[in-house]
Amino acid sequence: MSLPKRIWINEVSPRDGLQVWKEFVETKQKIKWIESLAAAGLSAIEATSFVNPKKIPQLADADTVMINLQALKLHLSALVPNQKGFERAIAGNCRAISIFTSPSNTFCQKNIGCNSADSLVRYASIIQQAKQKKLFVRGYLSCAWGCPFEGLIKTDDVVKIAFKLSELGCDEISLGDTTGQATPSSTQKLLMQIFKKLSSEQVALHFHDQYGRGLLNAYAAMQCGAWRFDSAVAGLGGCPTVPDAAGNVSTEDLVGLADEIGITTGINLAKLAKAGQEICDILGTNNQSRTGQTVLKLN
Ligand code: HMG
Ligand code: MG
Repeated sequence: MSLPKRIWINEVSPRDGLQVWKEFVETKQKIKWIESLAAAGLSAIEATSFVNPKKIPQLADADTVMINLQALKLHLSALVPNQKGFERAIAGNCRAISIFTSPSNTFCQKNIGCNSADSLVRYASIIQQAKQKKLFVRGYLSCAWGCPFEGLIKTDDVVKIAFKLSELGCDEISLGDTTGQATPSSTQKLLMQIFKKLSSEQVALHFHDQYGRGLLNAYAAMQCGAWRFDSAVAGLGGCPTVPDAAGNVSTEDLVGLADEIGITTGINLAKLAKAGQEICDILGTNNQSRTGQTVLKLN
Protein backbone atom coordinates (compact mmCIF):
# COMPACT_ATOMS: atom_id res chain seq x y z
CA MET A 1 0.00 0.00 0.00
CA SER A 2 1.47 3.33 -1.02
CA LEU A 3 0.56 6.76 0.29
CA PRO A 4 -0.61 9.65 -1.92
CA LYS A 5 1.93 12.35 -2.83
CA ARG A 6 -0.60 15.07 -2.15
CA ILE A 7 -3.85 15.38 -0.19
CA TRP A 8 -6.71 17.81 -0.77
CA ILE A 9 -8.22 19.27 2.36
CA ASN A 10 -11.71 20.71 2.56
CA GLU A 11 -11.87 22.95 5.63
CA VAL A 12 -15.31 22.46 7.18
CA SER A 13 -14.95 24.47 10.39
CA PRO A 14 -16.96 27.52 9.23
CA ARG A 15 -19.92 25.17 8.67
CA ASP A 16 -19.49 21.99 10.76
CA GLY A 17 -17.57 23.85 13.45
CA LEU A 18 -19.92 26.76 13.95
CA GLN A 19 -23.27 25.02 13.40
CA VAL A 20 -23.37 23.60 16.93
CA TRP A 21 -22.19 26.75 18.68
CA LYS A 22 -24.71 28.59 20.89
CA GLU A 23 -23.41 32.13 20.51
CA PHE A 24 -23.64 33.79 17.12
CA VAL A 25 -20.29 34.86 15.68
CA GLU A 26 -20.66 38.31 14.11
CA THR A 27 -20.78 38.08 10.32
CA LYS A 28 -17.83 40.45 9.83
CA GLN A 29 -15.69 38.45 12.28
CA LYS A 30 -16.69 35.22 10.57
CA ILE A 31 -15.72 36.53 7.14
CA LYS A 32 -12.39 37.88 8.40
CA TRP A 33 -11.62 34.49 10.00
CA ILE A 34 -12.50 32.58 6.82
CA GLU A 35 -10.13 34.93 4.97
CA SER A 36 -7.40 33.94 7.47
CA LEU A 37 -8.09 30.28 6.68
CA ALA A 38 -7.72 31.01 2.97
CA ALA A 39 -4.51 32.96 3.62
CA ALA A 40 -3.06 29.85 5.28
CA GLY A 41 -3.31 28.13 1.90
CA LEU A 42 -6.58 26.25 2.20
CA SER A 43 -8.02 25.97 -1.28
CA ALA A 44 -11.37 24.43 -0.34
CA ILE A 45 -13.59 25.77 2.42
CA GLU A 46 -17.13 24.80 3.36
CA ALA A 47 -18.25 28.25 4.31
CA THR A 48 -21.81 27.92 5.55
CA SER A 49 -25.23 26.22 5.23
CA PHE A 50 -28.36 27.32 3.41
CA VAL A 51 -30.55 25.44 5.88
CA ASN A 52 -33.54 26.53 7.95
CA PRO A 53 -32.05 29.36 10.07
CA LYS A 54 -34.43 28.54 12.90
CA LYS A 55 -32.75 25.11 13.12
CA ILE A 56 -29.18 26.40 12.75
CA PRO A 57 -29.22 30.04 13.92
CA GLN A 58 -25.43 30.26 13.97
CA LEU A 59 -25.41 30.12 10.14
CA ALA A 60 -28.44 32.36 9.57
CA ASP A 61 -26.13 34.84 7.79
CA ALA A 62 -25.24 32.31 5.06
CA ASP A 63 -26.41 34.61 2.25
CA THR A 64 -24.19 37.52 3.38
CA VAL A 65 -21.22 35.27 4.13
CA MET A 66 -21.28 33.60 0.72
CA ILE A 67 -21.62 36.84 -1.25
CA ASN A 68 -18.77 38.46 0.69
CA LEU A 69 -16.34 35.59 0.14
CA GLN A 70 -16.55 35.58 -3.66
CA ALA A 71 -13.29 37.51 -4.04
CA LEU A 72 -11.38 34.57 -2.51
CA LYS A 73 -11.56 32.55 -5.74
CA LEU A 74 -11.33 29.17 -4.09
CA HIS A 75 -13.53 26.08 -3.87
CA LEU A 76 -16.20 27.56 -1.59
CA SER A 77 -19.07 25.25 -0.80
CA ALA A 78 -22.21 25.28 1.32
CA LEU A 79 -24.82 22.81 2.52
CA VAL A 80 -28.12 22.74 0.64
CA PRO A 81 -30.98 20.67 2.13
CA ASN A 82 -33.86 21.52 -0.21
CA GLN A 83 -35.10 23.68 -3.10
CA LYS A 84 -35.25 26.80 -0.96
CA GLY A 85 -31.64 26.27 0.11
CA PHE A 86 -30.62 25.73 -3.50
CA GLU A 87 -32.22 29.02 -4.56
CA ARG A 88 -30.42 30.85 -1.76
CA ALA A 89 -27.12 29.26 -2.84
CA ILE A 90 -27.65 30.40 -6.43
CA ALA A 91 -28.51 33.93 -5.27
CA GLY A 92 -25.25 33.92 -3.30
CA ASN A 93 -23.20 32.94 -6.39
CA CYS A 94 -22.27 29.67 -4.74
CA ARG A 95 -20.46 27.41 -7.25
CA ALA A 96 -20.27 24.25 -5.13
CA ILE A 97 -23.13 22.79 -3.16
CA SER A 98 -23.28 19.89 -0.74
CA ILE A 99 -26.46 17.89 -0.37
CA PHE A 100 -26.63 15.62 2.67
CA THR A 101 -28.36 12.38 3.49
CA SER A 102 -27.65 9.14 5.31
CA PRO A 103 -28.15 5.36 5.02
CA SER A 104 -29.78 5.63 8.46
CA ASN A 105 -33.46 6.49 8.04
CA THR A 106 -33.75 7.60 11.64
CA PHE A 107 -30.81 10.00 11.42
CA CYS A 108 -32.06 11.30 8.09
CA GLN A 109 -35.56 11.91 9.43
CA LYS A 110 -34.25 13.78 12.45
CA ASN A 111 -31.72 15.77 10.43
CA ILE A 112 -33.65 16.78 7.31
CA GLY A 113 -37.23 15.70 7.97
CA CYS A 114 -37.50 12.77 5.55
CA ASN A 115 -36.17 9.24 5.18
CA SER A 116 -33.24 8.20 3.08
CA ALA A 117 -35.21 7.16 -0.04
CA ASP A 118 -37.32 10.35 -0.02
CA SER A 119 -34.19 12.45 0.38
CA LEU A 120 -32.83 10.99 -2.86
CA VAL A 121 -36.03 11.96 -4.67
CA ARG A 122 -35.72 15.50 -3.28
CA TYR A 123 -32.04 15.75 -4.17
CA ALA A 124 -32.38 14.27 -7.67
CA SER A 125 -34.09 17.46 -8.81
CA ILE A 126 -31.58 19.70 -7.03
CA ILE A 127 -28.61 17.82 -8.47
CA GLN A 128 -30.12 18.08 -11.95
CA GLN A 129 -30.61 21.85 -11.63
CA ALA A 130 -27.11 22.25 -10.20
CA LYS A 131 -25.53 20.31 -13.05
CA GLN A 132 -27.41 22.45 -15.60
CA LYS A 133 -25.75 25.46 -13.97
CA LYS A 134 -22.39 23.65 -13.98
CA LEU A 135 -22.06 23.66 -10.19
CA PHE A 136 -19.87 21.17 -8.35
CA VAL A 137 -22.08 18.83 -6.30
CA ARG A 138 -20.96 16.91 -3.25
CA GLY A 139 -23.16 14.30 -1.61
CA TYR A 140 -22.59 13.70 2.09
CA LEU A 141 -23.42 10.34 3.61
CA SER A 142 -23.69 10.75 7.36
CA CYS A 143 -23.47 7.87 9.82
CA ALA A 144 -21.60 5.83 7.21
CA TRP A 145 -20.08 3.61 9.91
CA GLY A 146 -22.49 3.91 12.81
CA CYS A 147 -25.62 5.70 13.88
CA PRO A 148 -26.54 6.82 17.39
CA PHE A 149 -30.13 5.66 16.77
CA GLU A 150 -29.72 2.56 14.58
CA GLY A 151 -26.33 1.22 15.71
CA LEU A 152 -23.79 -0.15 13.24
CA ILE A 153 -24.59 0.59 9.59
CA LYS A 154 -24.13 -2.16 6.99
CA THR A 155 -21.33 -1.47 4.51
CA ASP A 156 -23.60 -2.64 1.66
CA ASP A 157 -26.20 0.00 2.53
CA VAL A 158 -23.59 2.76 2.45
CA VAL A 159 -22.12 1.55 -0.82
CA LYS A 160 -25.54 1.31 -2.50
CA ILE A 161 -26.50 4.87 -1.63
CA ALA A 162 -23.05 6.23 -2.50
CA PHE A 163 -23.32 4.70 -5.98
CA LYS A 164 -26.86 6.02 -6.32
CA LEU A 165 -25.74 9.57 -5.47
CA SER A 166 -22.97 9.27 -8.01
CA GLU A 167 -25.45 8.07 -10.66
CA LEU A 168 -27.67 11.02 -9.86
CA GLY A 169 -24.77 13.30 -10.76
CA CYS A 170 -22.81 14.01 -7.57
CA ASP A 171 -19.20 14.84 -8.43
CA GLU A 172 -17.99 13.70 -5.04
CA ILE A 173 -19.27 11.58 -2.17
CA SER A 174 -18.13 12.47 1.34
CA LEU A 175 -18.34 9.53 3.72
CA GLY A 176 -19.21 10.94 7.13
CA ASP A 177 -18.21 9.24 10.35
CA THR A 178 -20.59 11.43 12.31
CA THR A 179 -20.19 9.48 15.54
CA GLY A 180 -16.48 8.69 15.30
CA GLN A 181 -17.15 4.94 15.28
CA ALA A 182 -14.93 4.10 12.29
CA THR A 183 -11.70 2.21 12.86
CA PRO A 184 -8.73 1.87 10.49
CA SER A 185 -9.94 -1.57 9.41
CA SER A 186 -13.60 -0.61 8.94
CA THR A 187 -12.42 2.47 7.02
CA GLN A 188 -10.42 0.29 4.66
CA LYS A 189 -13.23 -2.27 4.36
CA LEU A 190 -15.70 0.41 3.27
CA LEU A 191 -13.24 2.09 0.89
CA MET A 192 -12.39 -1.17 -0.83
CA GLN A 193 -16.08 -1.57 -1.70
CA ILE A 194 -16.52 2.09 -2.67
CA PHE A 195 -13.45 2.09 -4.94
CA LYS A 196 -14.93 -0.78 -6.97
CA LYS A 197 -17.03 1.82 -8.79
CA LEU A 198 -15.86 5.28 -7.72
CA SER A 199 -12.41 6.75 -8.33
CA SER A 200 -10.34 8.34 -5.58
CA GLU A 201 -11.18 11.72 -7.12
CA GLN A 202 -14.87 11.10 -6.33
CA VAL A 203 -14.50 10.19 -2.67
CA ALA A 204 -13.80 12.28 0.41
CA LEU A 205 -13.56 11.19 4.04
CA HIS A 206 -15.16 13.18 6.86
CA PHE A 207 -14.01 11.87 10.23
CA HIS A 208 -15.33 13.13 13.54
CA ASP A 209 -13.01 12.45 16.42
CA GLN A 210 -15.25 11.08 19.20
CA TYR A 211 -12.80 8.31 20.14
CA GLY A 212 -9.60 10.02 19.02
CA ARG A 213 -9.31 7.82 15.93
CA GLY A 214 -9.89 10.48 13.27
CA LEU A 215 -6.24 10.86 12.26
CA LEU A 216 -5.62 7.09 12.37
CA ASN A 217 -8.63 6.57 10.12
CA ALA A 218 -7.43 9.26 7.72
CA TYR A 219 -4.03 7.53 7.50
CA ALA A 220 -5.73 4.16 6.93
CA ALA A 221 -7.79 5.76 4.15
CA MET A 222 -4.63 7.17 2.54
CA GLN A 223 -3.20 3.66 2.48
CA CYS A 224 -6.18 2.66 0.32
CA GLY A 225 -5.55 5.51 -2.12
CA ALA A 226 -7.88 8.16 -0.68
CA TRP A 227 -6.53 11.71 -0.85
CA ARG A 228 -9.55 13.95 -0.25
CA PHE A 229 -10.27 14.81 3.38
CA ASP A 230 -12.57 17.06 5.39
CA SER A 231 -11.20 18.50 8.61
CA ALA A 232 -11.66 21.48 10.89
CA VAL A 233 -9.16 23.81 12.54
CA ALA A 234 -8.87 23.48 16.30
CA GLY A 235 -10.86 20.22 16.03
CA LEU A 236 -14.12 22.15 15.91
CA GLY A 237 -17.32 20.48 14.79
CA GLY A 238 -20.30 18.44 15.80
CA CYS A 239 -23.79 17.67 14.63
CA PRO A 240 -27.03 19.18 15.91
CA THR A 241 -28.79 15.84 15.38
CA VAL A 242 -26.26 13.98 17.53
CA PRO A 243 -26.05 16.11 20.68
CA ASP A 244 -22.80 14.59 21.96
CA ALA A 245 -20.99 14.42 18.62
CA ALA A 246 -17.34 15.40 18.86
CA GLY A 247 -15.49 17.74 16.54
CA ASN A 248 -13.88 16.85 13.23
CA VAL A 249 -10.34 15.59 12.95
CA SER A 250 -8.25 18.74 13.29
CA THR A 251 -6.78 20.26 10.15
CA GLU A 252 -3.59 21.15 12.00
CA ASP A 253 -3.10 17.47 12.96
CA LEU A 254 -3.76 16.33 9.41
CA VAL A 255 -1.44 18.91 7.85
CA GLY A 256 1.21 18.30 10.55
CA LEU A 257 1.19 14.56 9.84
CA ALA A 258 1.26 15.12 6.08
CA ASP A 259 4.23 17.53 6.41
CA GLU A 260 6.18 15.02 8.50
CA ILE A 261 5.67 12.10 6.12
CA GLY A 262 6.29 14.03 2.91
CA ILE A 263 2.73 14.47 1.64
CA THR A 264 2.02 17.87 0.09
CA THR A 265 -0.99 19.89 1.25
CA GLY A 266 -0.18 23.41 0.02
CA ILE A 267 -1.04 24.68 3.52
CA ASN A 268 1.18 26.74 5.82
CA LEU A 269 0.93 25.08 9.23
CA ALA A 270 1.98 28.13 11.29
CA LYS A 271 -0.63 30.36 9.62
CA LEU A 272 -3.23 27.60 9.90
CA ALA A 273 -2.58 27.21 13.64
CA LYS A 274 -3.05 30.98 14.09
CA ALA A 275 -6.35 30.85 12.20
CA GLY A 276 -7.43 27.96 14.44
CA GLN A 277 -6.59 29.96 17.55
CA GLU A 278 -8.34 33.06 16.11
CA ILE A 279 -11.72 31.29 16.10
CA CYS A 280 -11.10 29.72 19.53
CA ASP A 281 -10.48 33.21 20.95
CA ILE A 282 -13.68 34.50 19.34
CA LEU A 283 -15.69 31.57 20.71
CA GLY A 284 -13.91 31.60 24.07
CA THR A 285 -13.11 27.91 23.84
CA ASN A 286 -10.06 25.70 24.18
CA ASN A 287 -8.14 24.73 21.07
CA GLN A 288 -8.63 20.95 20.63
CA SER A 289 -5.81 20.47 18.13
CA ARG A 290 -2.68 18.92 19.66
CA THR A 291 -0.58 19.97 16.67
CA GLY A 292 -2.19 23.42 16.68
CA GLN A 293 -1.33 23.98 20.35
CA THR A 294 2.27 22.82 19.87
CA VAL A 295 2.86 24.88 16.74
CA LEU A 296 1.50 27.99 18.50
CA LYS A 297 3.91 27.43 21.42
CA LEU A 298 6.91 26.95 19.13
CA ASN A 299 6.25 29.99 16.91
P1 HMG B 1 -38.19 22.17 8.06
O1 HMG B 1 -38.17 23.25 9.05
O2 HMG B 1 -38.25 20.80 8.61
O3 HMG B 1 -39.36 22.23 7.01
O4 HMG B 1 -36.95 22.30 7.12
P2 HMG B 1 -40.37 23.18 6.35
O5 HMG B 1 -40.20 22.94 4.90
O6 HMG B 1 -41.63 22.86 7.04
O7 HMG B 1 -40.02 24.72 6.63
C1 HMG B 1 -40.22 25.36 7.89
C2 HMG B 1 -39.71 26.80 7.77
O8 HMG B 1 -38.35 26.80 7.42
C3 HMG B 1 -40.44 27.62 6.69
O9 HMG B 1 -40.43 28.97 7.12
C4 HMG B 1 -39.50 27.49 5.51
O10 HMG B 1 -39.63 28.55 4.60
C5 HMG B 1 -38.15 27.55 6.20
P3 HMG B 1 -41.68 29.62 7.91
O11 HMG B 1 -42.84 29.39 7.01
O12 HMG B 1 -41.78 28.85 9.21
O13 HMG B 1 -41.26 31.03 8.10
N1 HMG B 1 -37.10 26.89 5.42
C6 HMG B 1 -35.97 27.48 5.05
N2 HMG B 1 -35.49 28.73 5.27
C7 HMG B 1 -34.31 29.01 4.72
N3 HMG B 1 -33.55 28.12 4.03
C8 HMG B 1 -34.00 26.87 3.82
C9 HMG B 1 -35.26 26.52 4.33
N4 HMG B 1 -35.99 25.39 4.29
C10 HMG B 1 -37.11 25.62 4.96
N5 HMG B 1 -33.26 26.01 3.13
C11 HMG B 1 -34.93 21.40 6.43
C12 HMG B 1 -36.42 21.22 6.41
C13 HMG B 1 -34.32 20.24 5.70
C14 HMG B 1 -34.59 22.68 5.72
C15 HMG B 1 -34.47 21.45 7.90
O14 HMG B 1 -34.76 20.25 8.54
C16 HMG B 1 -33.03 21.81 8.04
O15 HMG B 1 -32.65 22.97 7.90
N6 HMG B 1 -32.16 20.80 8.36
C17 HMG B 1 -30.75 21.01 8.43
C18 HMG B 1 -30.18 20.40 9.64
C19 HMG B 1 -28.69 20.61 9.62
O16 HMG B 1 -28.18 21.62 9.19
N7 HMG B 1 -27.95 19.61 10.15
C20 HMG B 1 -26.53 19.70 10.25
C21 HMG B 1 -25.84 19.51 8.98
S1 HMG B 1 -25.60 17.81 8.55
C22 HMG B 1 -24.13 17.38 9.38
O17 HMG B 1 -23.67 18.11 10.21
C23 HMG B 1 -23.45 16.11 8.97
C24 HMG B 1 -22.22 16.36 8.08
O18 HMG B 1 -21.27 17.18 8.75
C25 HMG B 1 -21.56 15.03 7.73
C26 HMG B 1 -21.29 14.17 8.97
O19 HMG B 1 -20.61 14.62 9.91
O20 HMG B 1 -21.76 13.04 8.96
C27 HMG B 1 -22.62 17.03 6.76
MG1 MG C 1 -19.80 16.55 10.19
